[in-house]
Amino acid sequence: MTVAGSEPDSAPGAVAAVASAAAAPKHIVLGVGGGIAAYKVADLLRHLVEAGHHVTVVPTSSALKFVGEATWAALSHHPVATDVWSDAHDVPHVRIGREADLVVVAPATADLLAKAAHGLADDLLTNALLTARCPVLFVPAMHTEMWEHPATRDNVATLRRRSTTVLEPAIGRLTGVDTGKGRLPEPAEIARIAELLLHRGISLPADLVGRHVVITAGGTREALDPVRFLGNRSSGKQGFDLATVAAARGAQVTVVAANVDLPAPAGSEVIRVVSAEQLREATHAAAKNADVVVMAAAVADFRPAVLAPHKIKKTDAEPAPVTLVRNPDVLAELVAARSSGELDAVLVGFAAETGDDSAGVLEHGRDKLVRKGCDFLVVNAVSDVKAFGQPDNAAVILGADGSEREVPLGPKTVLASAILDSVISRLDR
Ligand code: CTP
Repeated sequence: MTVAGSEPDSAPGAVAAVASAAAAPKHIVLGVGGGIAAYKVADLLRHLVEAGHHVTVVPTSSALKFVGEATWAALSHHPVATDVWSDAHDVPHVRIGREADLVVVAPATADLLAKAAHGLADDLLTNALLTARCPVLFVPAMHTEMWEHPATRDNVATLRRRSTTVLEPAIGRLTGVDTGKGRLPEPAEIARIAELLLHRGISLPADLVGRHVVITAGGTREALDPVRFLGNRSSGKQGFDLATVAAARGAQVTVVAANVDLPAPAGSEVIRVVSAEQLREATHAAAKNADVVVMAAAVADFRPAVLAPHKIKKTDAEPAPVTLVRNPDVLAELVAARSSGELDAVLVGFAAETGDDSAGVLEHGRDKLVRKGCDFLVVNAVSDVKAFGQPDNAAVILGADGSEREVPLGPKTVLASAILDSVISRLDR
């Protein structure tokens, strides 16, 4: 399967197409580790089954102390594989790994990460990990101290060096009264990464380790009075999926989120803002030490000239027209700051375009890329974007070097990964 990450870098002027999603159901092995987060993995299993995949659940013996075999069997519609000695004639420890298109281990406990890093195989799941030749996704969940322990850090680094994808845990409430890094990411987010790996057919490389990626997401709101605003329908899903994938590829990620009603992507710092002015301030501050800034947010070009201090009341008189004033163009400011040496980041813009009598979508996109002066412009044909807030997207990634990479309609994580592939080719130059 030709996939986003496995595409060669586009030669200047060439159009490289990223293959669309394979619709065929896949075989997923869901290895469940012995942690309290196992109960959330039941929800992950539902997401994977509802997407049409065949899922074989392989819980460890300690996972079964948290969630029983009946739950896994009922939700997966398949018998649960629990040990190497049952159905030995079928050699399950070899078959299960070999048949898999993807192995997801969640929660990946410190113990499972250690065993996988050292190639130990003392139960069905660890055996399957050694026989699998497909992408493997570890989703760690544990107490912060265990995640930060040098032994765990080394084991994670070993697995990533072997091109295994190890997600960063989310930050938040842990099992006890404590909070910190160590929560299992949201099941829906894990399922989106799983879908991306199935598209790619290979694990996500840890090629953004040591890089700081800043992403703006969502849509700004410009207040008219204390209760009303001018806004847009951007959901922030594309920006949040960019953050998810960048973090999965090892980046330190800061998301400037304008009115996004979604949980924080695992492993990202999220700064919540409302207006274009707040987004501008937060983005400039974060961009100072960034290697990459992706402006995925829909930033209002205009705001009301006057913010009414009280709710505007209905009167018998004709309503007063709303006078607008221009907002600063944040992307243009970032380009100017880079020209004057204040920052040194690869800059990516987004543009939703329609063709008109004067030019088509891509011609408008190319004009905008030159006008904005960024390195890449991700162009959506507005007619392709069936509805804001959908999990799928299609776009062409235009490069300032003349490259064009077409990404057909597919999961937003696939477009996110293709954008990051382009960015990495520029970073490495
Ligand atoms: N953008 C920005 N600040 C603004 C408006 C837009 O940083 N005030 C960024 C967006 O985040 C996006 C890119 O600029 O990455 C292009 O946005 P778009 O609205 O398409 O650009 P405009 O220059 O406003 O072009 P148009 O005249 O087509 O609206």
